[in-house]
Amino acid sequence: MNPVSYDPHHRIWALNARNSSYVLRLDDGDDAPRQLHWGPHLTPEQALTTPPLPPPGNSFAGTARGREEYPTEAGASYGPAALLIRFADGSRGVEWQYLNHTVDGGHLAIRWRDRRQPLEIVLHYRVYEDSDVVERWAELRHTGTSADDAPLTLHRVDSAAWSLPHRPDYRISHVIGAWGRETQLRRTPLPYAELVLTSRRGVTGHDTNPWVMLDAGDATEDTGEVWSSALAWSGSWHFTAWRAQDDQVRWSGGAGHDGLTWRLRPGERWQTPVFAGLYSADGFGGTSRAWHTYQAGHVLPQPDELRPVVYNSWEATGFDVDEAGQMRLAALAAGVGAELFVMDDGWFGARRDDTAGLGDWTSNPKAFPDGLHPLIDEVHRLGMRFGLWVEPEMVNPDSDLYRRHPDWVLHMPSRERTTLRNQLVLNFARPDVAAWAHAWLNRLVTDHAIDFLKWDMNRPFSEAGWPERGEDADLLWFEHVRQVYAVMDRLRADHPHLRIEACAGGGGRADLGVLARTDQVWTSDNTDAVDRIAIQHGYSQLYPARTMGAWVTDCPNPFTGRTVPLRFRFHIAMAGALGLGGDLTRWTPDELAEAACLVARYKDIRPVVQHGLQYRLDGDGVQYAHGDRTVVIAWRVAPAHGDPTPPLRLRGLDPAARYRDERTGLLHHGAVLMHHGLPLDLSAGDHASMVIRLNAVGQG
Ligand code: GLA
Repeated sequence: MNPVSYDPHHRIWALNARNSSYVLRLDDGDDAPRQLHWGPHLTPEQALTTPPLPPPGNSFAGTARGREEYPTEAGASYGPAALLIRFADGSRGVEWQYLNHTVDGGHLAIRWRDRRQPLEIVLHYRVYEDSDVVERWAELRHTGTSADDAPLTLHRVDSAAWSLPHRPDYRISHVIGAWGRETQLRRTPLPYAELVLTSRRGVTGHDTNPWVMLDAGDATEDTGEVWSSALAWSGSWHFTAWRAQDDQVRWSGGAGHDGLTWRLRPGERWQTPVFAGLYSADGFGGTSRAWHTYQAGHVLPQPDELRPVVYNSWEATGFDVDEAGQMRLAALAAGVGAELFVMDDGWFGARRDDTAGLGDWTSNPKAFPDGLHPLIDEVHRLGMRFGLWVEPEMVNPDSDLYRRHPDWVLHMPSRERTTLRNQLVLNFARPDVAAWAHAWLNRLVTDHAIDFLKWDMNRPFSEAGWPERGEDADLLWFEHVRQVYAVMDRLRADHPHLRIEACAGGGGRADLGVLARTDQVWTSDNTDAVDRIAIQHGYSQLYPARTMGAWVTDCPNPFTGRTVPLRFRFHIAMAGALGLGGDLTRWTPDELAEAACLVARYKDIRPVVQHGLQYRLDGDGVQYAHGDRTVVIAWRVAPAHGDPTPPLRLRGLDPAARYRDERTGLLHHGAVLMHHGLPLDLSAGDHASMVIRLNAVGQG
C-alpha cells in the first residue's frame, strides 16, 4: 500500500500507516481541509462515506461543520482555534485556497494561500511503514514581497488538530506531577468543556507532560481503541481538548502558551514542532508499546546502543566535590560494575552551594588543582566512561558571567528579576548567548575526554523579556528552545561519541523534542524506590525504558526518609536504565558485594529491558520481551497480614510455547502464564521483590 494516496476527483488524501489510516479532504466550495477518518485502515472510497455531522440547526450554532483539520477563527465557528492570527487590517481567520501538494515517500505537504491576505499555509504529514504514528506539523509564510508590507501578528500557531469519531463517552489520560513527583497517571471522563493542559514555564514542566490519550471509556491495558498524541517540544506548550455538547471531540496543541504575541514579516516563515498522533486498537499497553517502538525507530539518536550503568555523585557528595573524593567514589563504583562515572554539580567556578558560580564553567582550582584531567584519566583507567554535570542555560547573580553580562538574562526593564534556587535564566534566544554556551561546551568536550553530559535546567522562566526585541520579545519562548536544541545538535555532530542526559530538576524536560537529541532522561530527583513505582508507571505510558534513568541510592531515602532493602531498590531501578547514586563509601562490604551481583544481573537482563517490548502487568509487576527472552520484575510493597499473593498474569507470550525459568529450571506453558499467571515466590514482609527470567524453549 502506498503510504500516501490522493484522489483528485474527490480531493481526498489518505495516509496509510502500519495498521491505521488518516484521511482528509478539501471542502467543496471553499477548499478548507477537513478530517474524514482517523482509525483502522479505510480506503479513500470508504472514508468518503463516513457520516457527516448534522448541519447546524439554528443561527446560534454557527456555520462550523465539525472535524476541522486546522481550525482558525474563520466564519461563524466558535470552537477553540489552532491558529490565532491577525492581519494588518484587523481581519482574523483564514479563507483557504488550495494551491498544490507534494508527496515524498511518506511525507505529504499540502499548500494553501489565504484568498485575500499575504499568507501561505502548509500542513505537513509523515507516516512510516513500521509505525502507526502520524507526524504532523504546520508552516506559515508571509508572502508579502515588499519590506513595507505590514507584518502578520501571531497569537497561537498549533502544530495540528485531531478529531475523533463519535463515541458516547470519551475519557482522557494524562500525567500530573511536581518536582520529585513526576508523571502521575490520571484517567478521567472528558468534561463538556475546553480542557487546557499547558506549561507556561519555558520548559516542558514537572506538573504535566505534553501528551494525551483519549479512549471511549472502554479501553483496558490490552484492548480497546486509544487515540493519542505527543508534542516534540521542550518549551512552553498548550493543548486544548474540546468536547462540545453534541459530543464532537477534538484537540489541538503546539508550542507556546496563551497570551504570547509575535509577528511574521514579509518573506518570513514560521514552522511548528511535530505533534505526533497515534491510533491503536490494542489498549493502553499497545499504545505505549507503539510509542516506544516509534521513538526507537524514528526519534532517539542512538537507539541500538545499550545505556551504560551510570554512577552519579550527586546524592553522595552534593556540592562538596574534589578530586580525591570523586576518585574514591569512582573506584567503588567501578568495583560494583558501573560503566559511566558522572561528576555532578559543584566542580566549577565558586560553586560550593547553590548561591554562586553558575555561569563560570572552569574547574575549581582548589578542588581540582591540576584541572579535571587526573580524575578523568583515573575514571578511564578504571574502565568507565566519564560524564559531567552542566547547566548551560543558567547563571547565579553571584558569578563572574553575570557581573560581566547582566543583560544576558531574561528580564524586563521595569521589573525585578525573580531568582529561583538563587539563579536566573540566560536568554538563549540571543545569538551571542547561544554562541557563548556552544563555545565553552565545545571547548570543555574538546579539551577533556568527556563522554557524557548531564544537561540540567533547574528553574522555569520569569520576567521573560528581551528588551532589544521590543514588541517581538515573546519570540524568546520559541527561540530559546530552538537554540538549546541547536547547541546540543552541534555538540553531537562534532563529537560523535558524546552522549547527553536530559534533566530539569529530574523529569522537568522529558518530551519527544529533547529525546531526539539526548540518550536518556533523569526521570526524577526522587530516588525512593516506592515512590518510583508510580513515577515509572506514568513515564512508561509514552517513553521507553531505555531512556528512563533510575538510580539506586542510600537509605533512609533523602526524599521520604523511607528505608527499604537494597535488593528492592535495585529491582525497581532495573526496570529502566539502571544507575547508582548512593554514597558508596558508607556501604558495607556486604552491601557492595550484593550491589555487584545485582549490577551483573542487570547487565544480563539489560538487552531485554532496554530493547524489548514492555508490558505493564495487572498487580505489581512489569514485563519485557525480546526475542526468546522474557524478564518479569515483580514486587509487593506492604501487604497486610493474610493478603494473598496472586499469580502474576503475563502478556504478549506465545501461548503455544514453553518458557523455562532460568533460576529454577521450571518449565511453564505460555498459555498458562498468560491465562492463569506465574506463581510468585515473594517472601513475607514489606518490600519483597524478584526478577524472573524466562526463556522460550520451543512449542509443546
Ligand atoms: C538538579 C538535578 C539533580 C542534581 C542537582 C544539582 O536538581 O535534578 O540530579 O544534578 O540539580 O544541583
